[in-house]
Amino acid sequence: MRYLLPVLVLAAHPLHAQQSADAVDPEAASETGAEAFADLPERVRAALERKEAGEPVEAQDWMVAAANPVAVEAGAKVLEAGGSAADAMVAVQTVLGLVEPQSSGLGGGAFLVWYDAEEGALTTLDGRETAPLDATPQLFQDEDGEPLEFYEGVVGGRSVGTPGTPALMQMAHDKWGNLDWAGLFDDATRLAREGFAVSPRLAGLVDEDRDRLTRFSATADYFYPGGEAIAAGDTLTNTAYADTLEAIATEGAGTFYTGEIAQGIVDIVQGAESNPGVLSMTDLAIYAPVERAAVCAAYRGRDVCGMGPPSSGALTVGQILGMLDNTDIASLAPDDPEALRLLGDASRLAFADRGLYMADSDFVPMPTEGLVDADYLASRAELLAGDDALPEVSAGDPEWSHAMDWAPDRSIELPSTSHVSIVDADGNVLSMTTTIENGFGSRLMAPGGFLLNNELTDFSFATHEDGRPIANRVEPGKRPRSSMSPTIVMQDGAPVLAIGSPGGSRIIGYVAQAIINHVDFGMNVQEALGAPHAVNRFGTFDLEAGTPMEELAGPLQELGFETEVRDLTSGLHAIEIGETLRGGADPRREGIALGQ
Ligand code: GLY
Repeated sequence: MRYLLPVLVLAAHPLHAQQSADAVDPEAASETGAEAFADLPERVRAALERKEAGEPVEAQDWMVAAANPVAVEAGAKVLEAGGSAADAMVAVQTVLGLVEPQSSGLGGGAFLVWYDAEEGALTTLDGRETAPLDATPQLFQDEDGEPLEFYEGVVGGRSVGTPGTPALMQMAHDKWGNLDWAGLFDDATRLAREGFAVSPRLAGLVDEDRDRLTRFSATADYFYPGGEAIAAGDTLTNTAYADTLEAIATEGAGTFYTGEIAQGIVDIVQGAESNPGVLSMTDLAIYAPVERAAVCAAYRGRDVCGMGPPSSGALTVGQILGMLDNTDIASLAPDDPEALRLLGDASRLAFADRGLYMADSDFVPMPTEGLVDADYLASRAELLAGDDALPEVSAGDPEWSHAMDWAPDRSIELPSTSHVSIVDADGNVLSMTTTIENGFGSRLMAPGGFLLNNELTDFSFATHEDGRPIANRVEPGKRPRSSMSPTIVMQDGAPVLAIGSPGGSRIIGYVAQAIINHVDFGMNVQEALGAPHAVNRFGTFDLEAGTPMEELAGPLQELGFETEVRDLTSGLHAIEIGETLRGGADPRREGIALGQ
């Protein structure tokens, strides 16, 4: 059985006949990529075949969908053994941190949305990184007060926030775990010690990022052993990571935040040559994830629910869908320019609100409920009544209890991150988006064998404009605004879909469009994820290269949009929950859905 290279998967889908495989050159990935997943059980190979055929995976009892087959198999084993979705998440996350280290891991943060089958209720866990207590609003400015270039901020210690993922895993397990904590680390620990096969995607990204990955010796030694980039199919070990996992498995996640592991993080952040950070042992010791109420928006008789502030995800996805609820987009074809006009301008209006109002609501007053209020969104949707693209958009005036005159945000987010969807045999549903921010994060490898995030660059580098402060500016202890949109769609009080994606601020468009594809255009869950993307955040319509979306550039320009044809590498993983479970994995990446 050959490993299904991403480009082959895409070519099998008619909508992706000419798609190139993301930023990773499939030729560079090479045939040896077959070794990456060759040892996995038959059920994994069957799942890869379903994805290649553009068909969802079906199951009765449980299902897990994530970005790497090795990680999915680890989660499947936990679910098979009677583990809950929270147990499976720990196994999936710890393996992802090894085999997909560029996207997420112990050194990063995550947001988790949970449907509790016994209680019939939704809640969320916020495992977002925090800014160090010694950080100032000028963290990403030069001595003249000018914002740094993006990567000047990213690479090094300056961008590293207090990691949240280990504490989030612990909290989720404490609340909802069935199985013994320590056993959940077995697969990741064994793979780290004995070695895992480097996937084509990891190899391709390492090859492309040589200049940044070789700036710090521990990172260079891991990804460029002997000076040569790791290649697809190479066996890679990470004994430091195995040791860290064993410590967390036996002592709990608390050990990550104090003692040797924490000191290793602080030393490497504060000692980062030419770009040190201010993260301290105190920041780690006081870190705590936060349980928060889910934010929901009404859409087509459903409630689309997800992560509220500090993520802008659920609010912005909810605003887009809530505006479109007032339109008849379902009567149009998905590639009708009129459907895209509605989607594009609803997105631009939602991003205008996001830019002005959305940040960490523990630090800045936010009109959270007003932003997804159905009447407010109906009034915003009136702006969509014309025939052409809106010449310009600005933030609206949602209902809120106390006013604050903000300036529009100026933060930059580039795509990385990973999404996991899980349903367990008891009917609990987990939707978690997890990240170290940029691909390979800050490029700093902690002595504990994991990459450290650059999440602080999700803050606005500028602090104010025309005398008005920017809501998402850096403040000590604050969580940077996110676009991560882990989502659970509810209908008649029951979950019907778990979905999310990586992709920086395009996450919002990927998730909203996939939900529209599924709900309005009737696509099955695999088709909904694989359908070509068109994303509009700030005016320019991004149209997915190598797909029929390219042909819409002309018609959209005639409506008044600027357009750009480009790769749009989402990583959507979704599970549709009905009489059976139906799972989908984004054909643009290496992941699968697996169930029983
Ligand atoms: N760093 C990606 C996000 O939080 O949206």
